[in-house]
Amino acid sequence: MNSQLIDTFGRTHNNLRISVTDRCNLRCTYCMPEDVVFMDRSALLTFEEITHFVRVAAPLGIDKVRLTGGEPLMRRDLPTLVRMLAEVPGLRDLGLTTNGLLLAEQAQALYDAGLRRINISLDTLSPDRFRLLTRREGLERVLDGIHAAKRAGFDPVKVNAVSIRGVTEPEVVPLARFAREHGLELRFIEYMPIGADHWERDKVYFAHEILEQIEREVAPLVPAEDYDPRAPAMEFRYADGGGRVGIIASVSRPFCLSCNRLRLTAEGKLRNCLFALTEVDVKSHLRDCPDDDALAEAIRCNVRDKWEGHEINTSRFVKPLRTMHAIGG
Ligand code: GTP
Ligand code: 5AD
Ligand code: SF4
Repeated sequence: MNSQLIDTFGRTHNNLRISVTDRCNLRCTYCMPEDVVFMDRSALLTFEEITHFVRVAAPLGIDKVRLTGGEPLMRRDLPTLVRMLAEVPGLRDLGLTTNGLLLAEQAQALYDAGLRRINISLDTLSPDRFRLLTRREGLERVLDGIHAAKRAGFDPVKVNAVSIRGVTEPEVVPLARFAREHGLELRFIEYMPIGADHWERDKVYFAHEILEQIEREVAPLVPAEDYDPRAPAMEFRYADGGGRVGIIASVSRPFCLSCNRLRLTAEGKLRNCLFALTEVDVKSHLRDCPDDDALAEAIRCNVRDKWEGHEINTSRFVKPLRTMHAIGG
């Protein structure tokens, strides 16, 4: 595709992450404060506005869209949005990242609406640790959601676990065995400074430590042949054919130089980086005085203005005001 979304570092942007709500039915410690205040519902982009945005972005080179939250399944009638987006010409990949709590009820409707790829967040198989991390109940419902996604036909079903020292070590083996048993692709995400809690580098359980632990305690790994260097996850497969494991090493091996992502927040702000410190309002081009040319130019400008990358590993790093729950990962 002849993309118009190339930044000053030569990175082509084809991947749009759309947050459909900042609301969530969990309160993960690494993501949001317990006393979070959510946006007014009237501030959220409507399904028509989101679809309109994607219709304008697709001819610029966006061909991959992922719906996120907060928890996207808390947005009423999400399958309707999926159906609307699935019809946008030029989109070749539509995915969803969910905490899985409401998935058992919605998996089939989402699949029938045209969604094919689903990533489910699950950090632990222990009910006690689930309660500690999410400040809520719900492990059984997440597990039901994962099984419902498999039954509905989603392929792949990926499971995301945030990797925190002292928390993740005891989970690596149970999660890996669970994923191997159920044909899920397990991915560990290095804990990033984007939540409301206090982050330190020492709290990250790093990619190389996870890999060593899996090889030592589960089974040997080899790099996956179809590994995409532009994707955040380093991908491996078990040498014995027992499935795949990915690691998103955002801290120890930042992948900013091959970043292809833009983000649209639930209330219509464009972010050119997960860690962006500035945003561009695009709701005005969708709601107040709709203008496709102005919208396309705002998207192009936002890409042009993109920095080289986050500086988590330097003293220059500044944490964005917006926490993860209002960006969507
Ligand atoms: P696919 O590769 O399309 O399956 O999805 P994905 O890995 O992009 O989606 P997912 O929502 O599962 O992302 C997993 C996590 O990776 C996110 O929640 C973030 O924590 C992290 N991540 C995604 N995009 C970025 C990014 O641009 N920068 C950084 N540093 N981390 C990211
Ligand atoms: N560091 C890494 N990943 C995080 N997520 C939320 N907060 C953080 C963080 N501080 C992940 C969730 C989910 C995705 C949307 O983002 O676990 O998989
Ligand atoms: Fe909700 Fe996801 Fe944040 Fe957990 S990480 S509080 S599930 S938005």
